[in-house]
Amino acid sequence: MVSLSTIILAAGKGTRMASRRPKVLHRIAGEPMLHYPLRVAMRLQSKKIVVVLGYGHKQVEDEVVSKVKNSKNIQCVEQKPQLGTAHAVRQATPFLKHFLGDILILYGDVPMVRVETVRTLLSLHRQEGNAMTLLSTTVQNPTGYGRLIRLQDGSLMGIVEERDLKPDQKKIGEIYSGIMVAKASYLFSRISHIKKNKIKKEYYLTDLIAMALEEGEGVGVFHWGDSREVQGINSLKELAEAGHWMQQRMKEEWMMKGVTFIDGASTQLESGVQLSSDVVIGPQVSLRGKTRIGSGTIIDQGSVIVDSVLGRDVSIQPYCVIEESRIASRAHIGPFAHLRPLSVVEAEVHIGNFVELKKTRIRKKAKANHLSYLGDAVIGERSNIGAGTITCNYDGQKKHRTILGPDVFVGSDTQFVAPVTIGRQAYIGAGSTITKNVPAGSLALSRVDQKVIRGWIRRQRS
Ligand code: UD1
Ligand code: MG
Repeated sequence: MVSLSTIILAAGKGTRMASRRPKVLHRIAGEPMLHYPLRVAMRLQSKKIVVVLGYGHKQVEDEVVSKVKNSKNIQCVEQKPQLGTAHAVRQATPFLKHFLGDILILYGDVPMVRVETVRTLLSLHRQEGNAMTLLSTTVQNPTGYGRLIRLQDGSLMGIVEERDLKPDQKKIGEIYSGIMVAKASYLFSRISHIKKNKIKKEYYLTDLIAMALEEGEGVGVFHWGDSREVQGINSLKELAEAGHWMQQRMKEEWMMKGVTFIDGASTQLESGVQLSSDVVIGPQVSLRGKTRIGSGTIIDQGSVIVDSVLGRDVSIQPYCVIEESRIASRAHIGPFAHLRPLSVVEAEVHIGNFVELKKTRIRKKAKANHLSYLGDAVIGERSNIGAGTITCNYDGQKKHRTILGPDVFVGSDTQFVAPVTIGRQAYIGAGSTITKNVPAGSLALSRVDQKVIRGWIRRQRS
């Protein structure tokens, strides 16, 4: 097998984005654009990946490249000034000049391309033994793109950029996607021979194609039918369209794996989310970050789940917000529950409406069904938390813990002034403010005795 290295061109500012952020940091399905070509390069087992950065290079490196796991083989290089795509490839030369395989060129702003499509490009390139092979597509409106100029017999003559087109060439719909694969030996021996374009004063990588053709080298074209996949993103409008298509594409992939979307168009998925078969997702649900959902779990309307792991057969009722939490199988959450970061809900737990958890573990089969705040707490197995229970975890300076053993019964409207520990099978009378530890098996009450004044109403009125 010929080995592969990848160069990702991402130095451009993206003026048409009308934004201060570097173009490749704008997000699609929750991930910065650059993340997608990087992932393609990694999935193809690139020996080296060189990312050419320019505008905001530090920020791009911090926000994307440094976040990639196992990034040993990724190298960032700054291109300054930015003198065109061939000049950008030249910046990568020092890192790859001893490399003998194929070089894949991807663009940071062509993020939608599938790894399977690039694989097909690579195998065609190798089968045909080309010096380079381009990925082309046909679009309705080719304005702005480099056009493929072909002879009568269909063979390629070269690529001409928009501003160098003759009037009769403007209507050519076949465009260069920016993605190509080339033999490293050919690419690096010729890249410095490309001359500056006289009009734009830039070095065009596409001039390499004319050069190869003149030298009688094999130049292949792989025409890909789905233009949406290989179209560049140049404006926030195109970003939104790409995002929309990406949503559709991800949902179709999940449907093939047994996921039901009740109203797919209103569901928002991020690309790091993992689903399982027999998951059902209601309308207006948003699943973000590294969320993983186990088989048989139902997420009802309007819930937002971020960076959380849900087990099997969990039921999330409408309008829950769940962040950085773990929920075990057969738990029942909501409606209107809020699980804040670092909460752990064990199997068969019930969390009801208007219950807020923060950094709290609810052990197996415990219940907190109504109106409660449980923060920095552990609730023991099978314990029952009455409506209106509040852990007073904050003294104005520090957070303190509330620990309940198993089978504790907490009457409604209880406050636990932390730090406080309640032993197993203890019983807390409704309306209590618990400031001291309660031993196992005891009843704790802190409210005043009820007073009854007979005939009070009659006396008031007379
Ligand atoms: C380029 C191609 C064009 C193709 C189109 C597809 C050339 C000369 N033209 O044009 O044939 O149809 O892409 O989208 O190659 N970049 C750098 N450094 C630079 C210039 C660009 O890293 O000095 C990067 C950009 O960040 C971007 C990519 O290269 O990711 C393409 O640059 P862009 O300016 O968008 O090229 P186009 O004019 O779109
Ligand atoms: Mg472009």
